[in-house]
Amino acid sequence: MNSISTKNAVVHFNSQAYKELNNYIKTTKPSKIFILVDTNTHDLCLPQFLEQLESNDIIVEVMEMPNGEDHKTIDICSGVWEALSEYNADRKSLLINLGGGVVTDLGGFVASTYMRGIAYINMPTSLLAMVDASVGGKTGVDLGALKNQVGIVNEGEMVGIDTSFLNTLPQNEMVSGFAEMLKHGLIYDKVYWNTLTHLENLDISDLDKLIYDSVVIKNKVVTEDPKELGLRKILNFGHTLGHAIESYFLENADKTPLLHGEAIAIGMLLETYISTKTCGLSEKELHIICEGILKTFAKVDINKQDQDLIINLLKYDKKNSHGIVKFVLLEAIGQPKIDCEVSNELILEAFDYYLAL
Ligand SMILES: NC(=O)c1ccc[n+]([C@@H]2O[C@H](COP(=O)([O-])OP(=O)(O)OC[C@H]3O[C@@H](n4cnc5c(N)ncnc54)[C@H](O)[C@@H]3O)[C@@H](O)[C@H]2O)c1
Ligand SMILES: [Zn+2]
Repeated sequence: MNSISTKNAVVHFNSQAYKELNNYIKTTKPSKIFILVDTNTHDLCLPQFLEQLESNDIIVEVMEMPNGEDHKTIDICSGVWEALSEYNADRKSLLINLGGGVVTDLGGFVASTYMRGIAYINMPTSLLAMVDASVGGKTGVDLGALKNQVGIVNEGEMVGIDTSFLNTLPQNEMVSGFAEMLKHGLIYDKVYWNTLTHLENLDISDLDKLIYDSVVIKNKVVTEDPKELGLRKILNFGHTLGHAIESYFLENADKTPLLHGEAIAIGMLLETYISTKTCGLSEKELHIICEGILKTFAKVDINKQDQDLIINLLKYDKKNSHGIVKFVLLEAIGQPKIDCEVSNELILEAFDYYLAL
């Protein structure tokens, strides 16, 4: 698979990723190499990664953080900054982030701020991190319940995607990442959407090329609109209601939290229904989309009281401006429309439609 050039970096795949990484190290000669992993990627990905790293006389230190979104915090950053300092990391050191989106977001932020910025490379190991977090240079951490509230946009030196890491990724995490791939199809490419929804199962041999296509789509969108003034907003399809649903299930003790992609899948179904009512999306495509998403994502019960509280959470959406909630909707599969206003009544109607599916 050919490499993909982003604004300031290149995404390399599989064996090429290691070749380029080793070349990068040979030519730039970092003073030390630090590898940030979480509990799981330490055990499941690090051995394979170290095997591919060509031996040279550069010291390699491994830093491990606990896994999970709960640990995407400034406290953990402090721990990593301190570890870098204790191990005498200097401005010529290199940080390699080997993990899911939590490790790549947090590690990217640590590298962008340690000594006012050192070089870093992302090696995403989850499907979500490969197809979504790998491009765009967004780094950062959560501030309490506020996701990605503190951070900086700064692309690393390169991204290496080794899809064989997915062999150990739990199935629910695979499904979660798949939601973002479906989104890429819906907002950009009908043919891609068709291919994804006709897959028999999420097998890595099929996914290889599809992951590549998703990175291409995300990169096209981000490159055409680096400052998020227009086109890039289409990446938020399913995310306005999806984020509110994700937060609601996370903060409500009676509910089992949903993974990001699981919440986004519900958001996409609701926003698709709204699209037929306001943007001319055909009934035919509404059915195709619902069927395509429900093939992979089980329905979740959301009662009337939940619905009101979810709608209340929309006011915290980071993409709002001047207090107005703006949706990305679909005119057709592959044809998004940004900056749409939607009434609460229509959102409630969309929940009714979802529950009756
Ligand atoms: N920067 C961006 O543009 C961007 C885009 C999308 C999401 N994100 C961020 O990414 C995060 C979500 O990413 P995520 O879903 O990868 O979460 P994650 O990093 O928490 O990974 C999910 C789980 O899978 C485990 N895991 C990762 N790779 C594994 C492997 N190969 N085998 C076994 N287990 C493995 C992790 O340890 C973790 O328990 C969120 O914080 C989100 O804000 C960032
Ligand atoms: Zn998302």
